[in-house]
Amino acid sequence: MKGIILAGGTGTRLYPITQGISKQLMPIYDKPMIYYPLSTLIQAGISDILVITTPEDQGAFQRLLGDGSQFGIRLTYAVQQRPEGLAQAFIIGADFIGDSSVALALGDNIFHGSQFSASLSQCRDPQGGIVFAYEVSDPSRYGVVAFDESGQALSIVEKPQHPQSNFAVVGLYFYDNSVIDIAHTITPSTRGELEITSVNEAYLRQGKLQVQKLARGDVWLDTGTFDSMSEASSYVEVLQKRTGIIIGSPEAAAYQSGFIDAEQLQILAARLDKSGYGKLLRNIL
Ligand code: TTP
Repeated sequence: MKGIILAGGTGTRLYPITQGISKQLMPIYDKPMIYYPLSTLIQAGISDILVITTPEDQGAFQRLLGDGSQFGIRLTYAVQQRPEGLAQAFIIGADFIGDSSVALALGDNIFHGSQFSASLSQCRDPQGGIVFAYEVSDPSRYGVVAFDESGQALSIVEKPQHPQSNFAVVGLYFYDNSVIDIAHTITPSTRGELEITSVNEAYLRQGKLQVQKLARGDVWLDTGTFDSMSEASSYVEVLQKRTGIIIGSPEAAAYQSGFIDAEQLQILAARLDKSGYGKLLRNIL
């Protein structure tokens, strides 16, 4: 299975900051935002990942993450010329995906929790599409999915006035290889974007859209606004200081997924000693 991180977009809700810097390079407490979705994909056991950015920001992401070999993975890069929608990732990434299945992680979504790894492990071989859903108190702000006891999706609606469930669709999707064909057949929405909801609707019509519920105790944070960025930073800070366990670290995820060994983790930790990040990595050992 391949992975894609979508780290382009305009970040208008974070202006003026994102007029000068990519949103996904901004810090969530002690690490750049993109570390979190990168860790999610590594945690899912994915070691071949495409990072899609704006043309202007690609160099900065390459400087930060390189070819991924330090994490025991392969990172490649592509640009999205204009922010024409999430589903464009599968058109830009068609050659990269080849004949594999693929997971798409949005560059500004953070997941954390004790049961999250188990949820991920159920998505390794999607027969159709799998969306992740999180129970929220204000579903009408999100894409909302209703589903039956077996997890089969029944409806999926963007920002509904009368939500059919309390489950919001979050920024993590798993698809079989037919997602490339589906992405090529959908048309732009009224806001001019190739919507991920259109992809999910296509799977739904085929009866092939499954819903993976995030456990209640697990946490999903979307970091697209000043308040949500600040809240996510506080969450990471408090938890790391209390427990000594690092959150959203690709190094830690790579070690736990078996992509690097203890010796390699030690070397990475040594380079990050002055910032305190290294100490948190050593705690894993
Ligand atoms: P959004 O938060 O929906 O959009 P944005 O990041 O441009 O922010 P704003 O609404 O404040 O203008 O995007 C979700 C994620 O997907 C984020 O990581 C950016 C990324 N993205 C792309 O890479 N390309 C796109 O065409 C879109 C729409 C989003």
